[in-house]
This record gives sequence, structure tokens and C-alpha cells, in this order.
Amino acid sequence: LGHNLQHFKEVTSTQEVVHQLAKQGKPHGTVVIADKQVQGKGRMSRNWDSPKGKGIWMSILLRPELLPYQAPQLTLLAATVLAEVIAEQSSIMPQIKWPNDLLINHKKVSGILTEMQAEQDQIQYVVLGIGINVNQTESDIPEELQHKASSLQVESQQHWSIQDTIQRILQQFERTYDQFMTDGFKAVKLKWEQFGYRIGEEVTISTMKKSWQARLVGIEPDGALLARDEKGKEEKLYSAEIHWGE
Ligand code: BTN
Repeated sequence: LGHNLQHFKEVTSTQEVVHQLAKQGKPHGTVVIADKQVQGKGRMSRNWDSPKGKGIWMSILLRPELLPYQAPQLTLLAATVLAEVIAEQSSIMPQIKWPNDLLINHKKVSGILTEMQAEQDQIQYVVLGIGINVNQTESDIPEELQHKASSLQVESQQHWSIQDTIQRILQQFERTYDQFMTDGFKAVKLKWEQFGYRIGEEVTISTMKKSWQARLVGIEPDGALLARDEKGKEEKLYSAEIHWGE
């Protein structure tokens, strides 16, 4: 992974660059990193603020032999990799808010955007985007976001080398990915659960259709979130937003 690594000073979005490379037939494991993105993309068509030199803005091209329904497992895999690397390099214990947010002290420091190109029942490729707020100071974070967003530096009170952290993430990703391909999702699920946020707690869940109170039970063998409503009815969720305290 990362043998084919391209570093840009500025791009619209590393996701877009990797989609183009994928269409040109570039191999599995191609990685694109940028110092700055002018149109960083988040989930649900949100913007992702990607200021120059302050964070890790990276997308990885994957050509996994998986069925399309398994692609979300790659998001959970990536989240465990990031959580492990951060935990290893500091005394902080990050948490993963299903499916893809990495929180430290209840504030989001990182997000993952998984985009899949599939035809019929086959994955053509996956672009896995990783954004991490690394060295923003408190004043770099827009005031209206300060209650819910932060950076590794603010939360750990230490400076992080972007270069070094990228290397660690790529190494750990490669290891975990290979294990996942040989042994399946089970090991990833176990690790994910160590970092799982608000598991066992009451939250509000919203989907496109509805919003309800439920208790988070855990994740299923396929990566779906299992939630139990007030009547005890369990539901498997593949796509939803979780909130609490609102
Ligand atoms: C989210 O939490 O909404 C996902 C954020 C993903 C951001 C990363 S930064 C690198 C890659 N390029 C993008 O435009 N987005 C992802």
C-alpha cells in the first residue's frame, strides 16, 4: 500500500483525484495525499474543511474482492486503524461513533468517506477517504464548530508529525486489510468494539425516513449497527445518523 503514492500541494478533493486514477486503471493501493483541499467532501454532501498543512487529507484506491454490501466494512476497518494509530502514539483513547466518526473527548477529530463504484453485483473499486484534523489549534477551528470538532493536537497537547502519522496509518491499514481479506470481518469487529462510542447507551437515531430513541447494542457480523427501541424491537441499520442529548 502506498507504493504508488502521489502527493499534491493543492487539489479540489483527493477523492476526485483517486476516482480519476481508478478510471485510468491505476492499481489497488494507490494513495493520494494533499496539503490542502479546496473542495474537501464529507458524508451527506457536506463540506470538509481541509486547511493547508493542518491535517491528513488522503484517499486510498482499493480493488477489493468483496460484494457491494460488504463495502461499509471497509469504513469500520479504516476507523479501527485510525483509532489504533492514535492510541499507540499518545495516551488518548479515541472512540468511534458508528459508522465513521473518530471522537476524542466527545469531539470529532476525523471522518471517513467511502465511495464505491459497482456494476451489477461486483465492486469495480472503492475510494476510501480519510480526513484527520491534526495540528489545528483551538483558534483554527471555526467558533460555531468548537463544541463538536477538534484536532489531535488540541486534545492530546502534543504536536503530531503528519508525515509520520500517514506512514503509520498506511502500515497498519495494510496489515489489517490483509487480515480482513484472509480471515473476514470478525477480528475487525472485535477491535471496533473496543473503541465503539455510546454502545449500550440511549441515543437518538435518524434515517431519511424517521427519527427515534433507541439503545445501541453493538455491531453485527456484517458491520451493520444493531439498535433496540423502547419496545425491545431490534433493528439492523446500514445507514443512519446518531445523536444524543438533543
Ligand atoms: C465525514 O466525516 O463526513 C467524512 C470526511 C472525509 C474527509 C476526507 S479528507 C480526504 C478525502 N477527500 C475528501 O474530499 N474527503 C475525504
